[in-house]
Amino acid sequence: MFHVKQPENPEPTASFSLDDSPIARELADLTARRRVLDAVTVTLSGRTRVITVSNQKGGVGKTTTTVNIAAALASIGARVLVIDLDPQGNASTALGVPHTADIPSIYDVLIDDFPIADIVQTSPESPNLLCAPSTIHLAGAEIELVSQVAREHRLRTALDEYLSNLEERLDFVVIDCPPSLGLLTINAFAAAGELLIPIQCEYYALEGLSQLLGTVRMIQKHLNPRLRLSTILLTMYDGRTRLAQQVAEEVREHFPQEVLSTVIPRSVRVSEAPSFGQTVIAYDGQSAGAVAYREAAVEMVRRDTTTEASAASNQHGTTSAPADEGGQ
Ligand SMILES: Nc1ncnc2c1ncn2[C@@H]1O[C@H](COP(=O)(O)OP(=O)(O)O)[C@@H](O)[C@H]1O
Ligand SMILES: [Mg+2]
Repeated sequence: MFHVKQPENPEPTASFSLDDSPIARELADLTARRRVLDAVTVTLSGRTRVITVSNQKGGVGKTTTTVNIAAALASIGARVLVIDLDPQGNASTALGVPHTADIPSIYDVLIDDFPIADIVQTSPESPNLLCAPSTIHLAGAEIELVSQVAREHRLRTALDEYLSNLEERLDFVVIDCPPSLGLLTINAFAAAGELLIPIQCEYYALEGLSQLLGTVRMIQKHLNPRLRLSTILLTMYDGRTRLAQQVAEEVREHFPQEVLSTVIPRSVRVSEAPSFGQTVIAYDGQSAGAVAYREAAVEMVRRDTTTEASAASNQHGTTSAPADEGGQ
């Protein structure tokens, strides 16, 4: 979690002991964090960062992270495309983008060589937030891809073409992967420069991670040497449980450079938002979940510049990216 300075004009507080209760402290903390976020300015890198959100475990928060990070980035002025690569189409739903079977989708791009420009829709949430939707047809794509020429590179080729013909550059492409390491996920790995792994703060959080990282190493060797694990985000964190704290500690021990300081709390607002066809940023932008995703987005933008700066000066460590500077 970000270290937050005391606000200059603290909210007036009543003078009875409830103020010292954990809930009162949490609310005061949230208010202070919102103020910091409202004052934050970020400098975008000027490049298009292609980030694939993957973890072959289901239900760890891939889709939730994809759409909410994308919406949070759009809300700070970035132009963002979400590619929904999961046949379930949950990312398309959460972005309020129609994706019934008759709608041109990422399936047509992968299998029938449609240009991405022909399938992209704008989310009603923001003109900065685009979506290449998935439809139910994508469920067959895993099998159909097997017999395609350059089957691992089809997304990358289509994306390169799309990005190079855009009039206005995108700052981010965020790809939501299905819960498997099949050809759809491999296409996402081949197209991306960065990998973001959401990890749910629950039992067995690290189970399967070595298989995922093994696949990434294979991709780096044979298909895409540019791919790097840039970000790990701890999701569904419940700070009241010892287990969540232990999982968070363990993941940070293993991946000190990659884990964001921001953790995403378990929050009802986050899980409700998709049923309204919205991200939590639009649904309740002041809620704890939305604030955390906005902080994570700021951290990802700032870390990128920090990474470049530290690579240039050959330093070790990229973990300090506080959002409490009010601008950079
Ligand atoms: N921070 C959170 N708080 C509460 N519920 C969450 C949170 N993140 C995800 N969920 C819920 O957990 C379930 C799985 O999340 P999802 O993003 O669909 O995972 P995945 O894409 O990895 O399968 C969904 O019902 C989602 O609404
Ligand atoms: Mg999903």
